[in-house]
Amino acid sequence: MNKEKLFYLITYGCQMNFHDSEKMAGQLINAGYKETNDLQQADIIIFNTCCVREKAEEKVRGKMGEIKKLKDNNPSILVGIGGCMPQQEGVGKKLLRQFPFLNFVFGPHTLDVLPALIEESNEKQVLALKKDKGDVPILPVKRKSSFRAWIPIIKGCENFCTYCIVPYVRGKEISRPMQEIIEEVNQTVKEGIKEVVLLGQNVNAYGRDRGEYSFPLLLKEINKISGLARIRYMTSHPRDFSYNLVDVIAKLDKVCEHFHLPMQAGSSKILKKMNRGYTQEEYIELIKYIRKKIPHSSITTDFIVGFPGEEDEDFSQTIKVVEEFQFDSAFMFIYSSREGTPAAKMADSVPQDKKKERHNKLMNLQQQISLEKNRRLIGKDVEILSEGSSKKESELIMGRTRTNKPVVLSGFLPPGDLAFVTIKGANSHTLFAELTETP
Ligand code: SAH
Ligand code: SF4
Ligand code: F3S
Repeated sequence: MNKEKLFYLITYGCQMNFHDSEKMAGQLINAGYKETNDLQQADIIIFNTCCVREKAEEKVRGKMGEIKKLKDNNPSILVGIGGCMPQQEGVGKKLLRQFPFLNFVFGPHTLDVLPALIEESNEKQVLALKKDKGDVPILPVKRKSSFRAWIPIIKGCENFCTYCIVPYVRGKEISRPMQEIIEEVNQTVKEGIKEVVLLGQNVNAYGRDRGEYSFPLLLKEINKISGLARIRYMTSHPRDFSYNLVDVIAKLDKVCEHFHLPMQAGSSKILKKMNRGYTQEEYIELIKYIRKKIPHSSITTDFIVGFPGEEDEDFSQTIKVVEEFQFDSAFMFIYSSREGTPAAKMADSVPQDKKKERHNKLMNLQQQISLEKNRRLIGKDVEILSEGSSKKESELIMGRTRTNKPVVLSGFLPPGDLAFVTIKGANSHTLFAELTETP
C-alpha cells in the first residue's frame, strides 16, 4: 500500500543526528517508502531536530507556517517531528498542542518504531517518546555518502557540562560491543567505503560503561582493516583525551591528524562554572603535547561566548589563547540558555549586545588566523580524499586533506579516490590546488 509513498527528511544538528536520519531513511525504504528531495512532492515529511541552542529550535518552528499551508492544500500529508527537540521534558506534548496539524512526534530513543508510527498516525496524532532503553539498536541504514560512513560507537553523554541539554535528551553513555563495530566497518569497506567517522558525544569515553574495551583499543583494531584509508572520530572531550591516546594515534597510519577539541572558554574560572573538568593550563598542555608528537596535525575547537558570569577579563583570556595557540579553525557560539540545565539557573549576566560584540571579535580574529595558517600550506603537496563535484561549482572537484581542510581543484577525480595535490592558493576556509605532477 505504501509502495508509492514518498518521504522527505529534514535534518538539523550534529553528525549523530544526521546518522539517525540515515537510520530513519533505511527503515522507511525497507518498509516500501521512497525518499524525495522535493518537499512539494512528499506524502510524509519528517523533521529530525536539534535543541542544543535556541536558534536550532527556532528554525524548526519557523518552518511550521509553510508546512501548515501544504497540509491545508493536502490534508493527507503526514508530518512528524523527531530528534532531540521533542525529547526535552514536556516539549513533545507541547508541540502537538501548538501545531495541531502534526501527525506524529518521536525522539532519539524511538526511531526504531518509525514505520509503525507513521501507519498509526493515519488514524490519530501519536506521541512516541520513551526514556532511553539502554541499548543501541541495529537498524537498516541508508548512507548518504558512497565513500564515507558514520559509525556510532557510543551514544549518550554523562558529562553534564552546565550549559548543555544533550545529556538530558540523549541519555546515559552506552558503548556498542567492539566486535559489532568492527563488523560494521568491515561490511562498509566491502561496499566501497574509504573513510569512517566514529561517532559519539564523547568518543573518548568509549568502553567506560562496559569495562572491557577502550577507545585506543578500538582505534588499533579498526586501523588493521585493509581497504580502509582514513579513520576520523568525533567528538572528543579534552578531559578524557589521554596522552596515551595521542601516543597510540601517532602510531596508527589510518587515523587522521585532525584533533577537534572543544575548549569552550579560555578562562579557568568559566571552565569550572561550565563543569568541563580541565583548566586552561591543562588544555594547553594537551595541545602542546599533540603538536610535539604529531607536528603536522590540525587542531580545531569550539567556543561559547557570553556564558553566565563571563567578564571582560575572562573573555580576554579566550582571545589570548586563540592568539597564542592558533587553532586551524573554530566554531564560535553565543551562549544560549537551555531550560533544565544548571546554567539556566545562573544569572544570564552578559547583555546580548556584549555577547554579539565578543562573538564578532573572536570570529574576526579566528578568520585571520585560519587564513594565515592556510596560506602557509601554499606550495605544499598533500593527500586528499575526493568527495566528487564541489557543491558550489559543479565543474570543480572537492576533497579533504587528512587534517580535514576542504580543497577545491579542477580535473577528474571520482568520489572516494585518493590523490596528491599541490596547494596553489588559500582563503580562510578553503584551499585551492592542482593535481600534483608525477615526475
Ligand atoms: N558532544 C559534543 C557536541 C556538543 S554540541 C561536544 O561536547 O563537543 C556542540 C557545541 O555546541 C559544543 O561544543 C558547544 O560549544 C556548543 N553548545 C552546547 N550547548 C550550548 C549552549 N547552551 N549555548 C551555546 N552553545 C552551546
Ligand atoms: Fe554537552 Fe558537554 Fe556532553 Fe558535549 S560533553 S554533549 S558539551 S554535556
Ligand atoms: Fe543537537 Fe541533539 Fe546533536 S541536541 S547537537 S542533535 S545530540
